[in-house]
Parts: sequence; structure tokens; C-alpha cells
Amino acid sequence: MKKSRVGILTGGGDCAGINPAMKWLVKTALDERVKRERGTQYEVLGIRDGWQGLMQTEPKATEEHLMPLNQETVRTWDRYGGTMLGTSRTNPYDPKNVQSKVVLTNIETLGLDALIVIGGDDTLGVAHKLAREGVNVVGIPKTIDKDLRETDYTLGFETALDVITQEVDRLRTTAGSHKRIFVVETMGRETGWLALEGGESNGAYIILIPEHDFSIEKVNELVLEGRRAGTRYDIIIVAEGAKPAGSTQFTREQRADSFGHKALGGIGEVLADGIQKGTKLETRCVLLSHLQRGGAPCAYDRRMGRYFGIAAMDLVMMKDFGKVVCYKNGRITECPLEKVIGKLKYVDVKTMYDVERYNGRRTILGREEQDVPRPWPIKR
Ligand code: F6P
Repeated sequence: MKKSRVGILTGGGDCAGINPAMKWLVKTALDERVKRERGTQYEVLGIRDGWQGLMQTEPKATEEHLMPLNQETVRTWDRYGGTMLGTSRTNPYDPKNVQSKVVLTNIETLGLDALIVIGGDDTLGVAHKLAREGVNVVGIPKTIDKDLRETDYTLGFETALDVITQEVDRLRTTAGSHKRIFVVETMGRETGWLALEGGESNGAYIILIPEHDFSIEKVNELVLEGRRAGTRYDIIIVAEGAKPAGSTQFTREQRADSFGHKALGGIGEVLADGIQKGTKLETRCVLLSHLQRGGAPCAYDRRMGRYFGIAAMDLVMMKDFGKVVCYKNGRITECPLEKVIGKLKYVDVKTMYDVERYNGRRTILGREEQDVPRPWPIKR
């Protein structure tokens, strides 16, 4: 029987849903029945710490970054968040220190016939460059930001939404008791999916997203309008990438990572300060930060992880490389890597955001033109 060795690695920010994908990928690769049908015996090798695991120059160091995976190793993985293989934001194509040759040499030395890469735009971007250099890669989309094109879902998003929803539920009791305003800053980088859909899930009064610059004066007017109508407290969700018109984005540190990104954050505090000064109402800021990436995967991330993991192995078996598994219009499908990377998928303000209320739209009409799952079919 033919033998084939498949590597898996996880890169970029961790999130819930990665471990379920790895579990089902390994179980599919090593499944005895499927093995007989396809006439190939697969072996799966986990690579630790993302691209860093393939950038070691000493054989002993490379060895230390390997984790052979079998059905027993991954048996319980779908219950856990994070990534059992570890991750890093390492870029082998960092212009300041290009290490791609080392990666290519290690792939060859390890005898990897295929490499399955679980990541967001940066990690899949590296996978695409390696594919152009002849590596047989398949991608699985994951990021709590849900900002990848060509796929309606990226692993980790729904679990992060659950965190936002549950944490805001907790805040509501204390906010109501003290008649306070809580500004809750969410992650999401340049896109507002987490803030918008998190805010829609928990019924936030105001949601501010990077796709639409806001005015603090208008936020204050909306808050005061709510108070005049009898509101005791307010929940305001602000995406880390959102900003007032005329301002630049707020950053946690000036230094950019090896993919050129600066860590966003800080708008929550600035906004809370502006609201307290402008309305004279007591305002607090809560940063959900990395809590959004933590915890056990929700049922949806376990299922999507399973489907994406199985689909990735299907592509390997069919030798259909240079692709990313996707979820599109309710179906698991695939798409060339180059169509997914490079440009982000933004919230469409016209059809999904109410610029008057600074919130999700109060009509679902018009949303059907979007590639977003709708709760019910709408007839015009
Ligand atoms: O891309 C996922 C993400 O969680 C972003 O929403 C956030 O801006 C960033 O990663 C935080 O990165 P780090 O874990 O490196 O602080």
C-alpha cells in the first residue's frame, strides 16, 4: 500500500475550533475503512508553534517541534480551546529576516507529502507563497475576526460571540444596579464582525465598528436620548479598530509584528472618558481582550471544526492542493488560496449597519444580497 506523510500546523492567534479540526483531520487520515478504499496509508505529523516549528536549523530543535498524531492522541481534543500544537506569529517571509528556504528544506527532510495549515490571513498567506514554491498545501480558515473572503465562517468566531454575549449579560446586572454606562471593547482588528454580531447577540444599545467612523457627540446624544426615554444603564460595544471620524486607530504598542500589524486597542477607554465628560453619566470600560479567544469550543465550532478537518483531508486525498476549505451559502466547499488571502472581508455598512442608531439594522430586508446566513427566508 502507498504511504503518505501529512504535516499539520496552526499559526497566528489561537482560538476555539482548531483542536476539533485537528481531531477529525487525524481520525479521517487514519480511518481504517477509508484507508482500504483509497489504497493509501497516511501518517500525520503535528508541527509545534506554527511556522517557527519549520524554521529550526538544528535537527534536534526540529525534532523537538514534532508531535506524531494518532487516534488516541487526539481522542479528546475537540473539547478544548486553543491549539494543542501551539502557535506563533512567525513569518518565514518577514522581509527583515527571510527564512523560507529553511522551511522548504525542513519540509523536504521531514518527507512531508502535504501540509495542512490552520490559520487566518497571515498564516494562509505564507501557505500560498509556499504553494507557489511547490509545496502541497491545504488551508483551514480560523480566526475570531471572521474577516477572510470566500468563506462565511472561520473557526473560533461563534465561541468568541458566546464569550461576548455571556460577559455582557454579567455586566448588565452591575450596570443596572449602579445606573452606569459600560463600554465594552472587543477584538476584530480591521473588521467589525465580532463587535456587530456580538452586540446584536446581546442587544447592545450602541455598536461601533471600524467600517464606519463615529462621532462621540452623536454617541452622547444617543445615550441622553435613551436616558430621557427611561433607560437605567447602557451597554456600548466598540471594536478595537473603530475610531472617531478624523482620528487614527488606537494601538496598544507602536511596534509592528513580523506581518506588519500593530496591536490595536485603547479606543474603549478613550470613548468611556468622552462619554463621561459629555453626558456627566458614570461610565466604565471593560476590555474583553483575549477572553474572547479562550474557553471550550461551542457546539458550532466543534461541528465546523469537524467538517473543515474532514474536508481538508478530502482535498489531500484528491491531491487538490493550493486550496482552502470554506463554508459558503450553507455548504462546505473549497477555494484557491489566492482568492482568500490579501484582502479582508468587511461588514457591508449599507446593508448591515444602521448609521443613524450606530447599531445593527432593524430590518433584515436587503441583507439577502449578502453572503450571511439569515435566520429566515425573506420575500420582498
Ligand atoms: O486575529 C485575532 C486577534 O485576536 C485580533 O482580533 C486581535 O487584534 C489580535 O488577534 C490580538 O493578537 P495577540 O494575541 O497577538 O495580542
